Formats: sequence, C-alpha cells, structure tokens
Amino acid sequence: MHVDGRTVIVTGASSGIGRATAHEFARRRAHVVLASRSRDKLDALAGELADYPGRRLVVPTDVTDRLAVEALVRRTVEEFDGVDVLVNNAGVGLFAPIATGSLDNMHHLFNVNFWGAVHCIQAIVPYMRRQRRGHIVNVSSVAGKVATPYLGAYSATKFALTAVSNALRSELAGTGIGVSTIYPGLTDTSFQENMLREVDVPDLPAYLRTAGPAAVGRRIVQAVRWDLRDTYVTLADFAAVNAYPLAPGLADWALRLFWLGSGARLGVEGTPFEAIGELAEPFAADAPEPPSESP
Ligand SMILES: NC(=O)c1ccc[n+]([C@@H]2O[C@H](COP(=O)([O-])OP(=O)(O)OC[C@H]3O[C@@H](n4cnc5c(N)ncnc54)[C@H](OP(=O)(O)O)[C@@H]3O)[C@@H](O)[C@H]2O)c1
Repeated sequence: MHVDGRTVIVTGASSGIGRATAHEFARRRAHVVLASRSRDKLDALAGELADYPGRRLVVPTDVTDRLAVEALVRRTVEEFDGVDVLVNNAGVGLFAPIATGSLDNMHHLFNVNFWGAVHCIQAIVPYMRRQRRGHIVNVSSVAGKVATPYLGAYSATKFALTAVSNALRSELAGTGIGVSTIYPGLTDTSFQENMLREVDVPDLPAYLRTAGPAAVGRRIVQAVRWDLRDTYVTLADFAAVNAYPLAPGLADWALRLFWLGSGARLGVEGTPFEAIGELAEPFAADAPEPPSESP
C-alpha cells in the first residue's frame, strides 16, 4: 500500500519508536493520528510535523481503556473519512523475576502491550473491512522470539503479540487488510529508563543499542508499503533470532552469563559463575519460606 495521503494511527507516538514512526509517515505525506497518554508531548510533536504535507490529529489515549480506544478510531474516521494504517506501538517494559515478581506489574504489562493492541485491532478492523483496505503493524520485539532472564513477563507479552499477528493475518486473508510484525532489538529510546524495575539490572551499554528509532520507523513504513510479514531492523537481530532454535540450551547459557554474569557491571566480584551465585542470594532471601516438612 502506498502511504501518500493515507490515514495512519500511531499509538505510543509521544516518544521513541512511535515518535520516529510518526515522522516517517508524515515525511511520506500521510495524515498521522498521534495517540498516547501525554497530550503535551503529542501537541509538541504535531507542531514539529507541521511542515510536512498531510494533516495531524492529536488524540490523547490510554490503550488499556477499551472505550477510549474506540473513541480514538471513531474520531479518526470522522476526521479523515476512513482509516488505513494502525501501528500498535505503545508499550512498556519490566525487569522482574517470574517466580517472585509482582503480579500487579505483570498484569499492567499485559494490559498495555497485549490488551492495548487487541483493543486497537478490535476497534479498527470493522472499518477496514468495510473499506476492503488497511494495514495493521504490531511492534513486537526480539524479546518476542527469545526470552531472557528477568524479561520473562515482557517477553511473554511480545510472544503473545506475535501469536496475535500470525492468527490475525490468516483470519484477514483475502479482505485487503495486511498484518506485519516488527521485531526491533535494543533501540536507542527512553524505553529502558521508562521500564518498571523490580531487580537491579543496570542499563545496557550504549554500544548494544544498535538501531536508532528512525531506523525502526523506516522499517515500519516499508512493512506497510510492501506488505511485509515478519520484519527485522538489523541483520544481527535476524541472525540472533534464527540462531536461537539451533542450540537453545547453549543460547540460554550465554544469555544467562550475559545478563547475570558480568560481576563488574552488577557491582559484585568474581568469575561470572560466582557472580551468578552472589546475585541469586538477595532474591533467595526475599523469597517466601518453603513450608516446613512435618516430622
Ligand atoms: N527500545 C527498545 O529497545 C525496544 C526494543 C524492541 C521493542 N520495543 C517496543 O517498541 C515500542 C515502543 O518503545 P520505545 O522504545 O519507543 O519506548 P518509549 O520511548 O518508552 O515509548 C513508549 C511509548 O508508549 C506509550 N505508552 C505507554 N503506556 C501507554 C498506555 N497505557 N497507553 C498509550 N500509550 C502508552 C508512551 O507514551 P505515554 O507515556 O505518553 O502514554 C510512549 O509514547 C514498545 O512496544 C516496545 O516494547 C522497544
């Protein structure tokens, strides 16, 4: 689908990848609807995009609120007489152990990353079916293909989004509505700073953030234009995801060392193996006592 003159809703448009995606669509003369919770940031972005052709509409929206999402889509259709593209990008991260992590945080993550996307899909598909035209982009993650320690809940939301994309694509085949899934790796945005943290995992070094948000935004536009199915941003991300199933045990071991084993980064001493032991102790201390065995 060409994007010139099309109407595009971007969720999570106030920051990072969503913001860059709004820029990329606006550069290509699309009408862009900016949605997230922060009205001030969206207004500022709309001002930045004013020089590009096409119109902008700011609709502050919390994607966890189904009625607000329905109102976002209705308002878009009223303003632009239709809606062509949905970019399901709003998302939040969480560093937490699965076994002892806060259920409230995990529920929140699913509410934003999974249910937020489903709310948008359910609100928009009826309009796209009527038009017999549309494209839905779900922003998953490399973490939606490979799970790492303390990112299990986040990964689960992104694995779920991958499943939603694949099923939806089949369900909509022949309707004129395409579905793409984007798998960014570490991207240089405020995502890490905005993450909920239950364990003290230090920020990853900048050199590991191999892509900028503009590169992800460009891939999202390409996915819409060429109806791409699974879309990676860097070759390294593609290679990592496809190498994982070849030796998952070895890859898990390497990821464990990478995330948990660098004693220097985590402020503990010793070899990576000793560091893992030391790091496990505070979490073990927090864990509830197992029930005592009766004599
Ligand atoms: N950065 C990475 O390394 C990376 C890698 C792979 C995938 N991703 C994915 O890319 C997407 C964008 O992340 P980013 O890197 O751009 O992070 P970011 O800079 O933290 O942006 C997150 C966006 O989500 C919005 N958001 C959060 N909760 C929301 C809610 N309840 N309703 C509506 N909007 C909400 C935020 O806006 P408000 O606060 O204004 O609501 C913000 O615009 C996420 O889905 C993330 O999982 C990121």
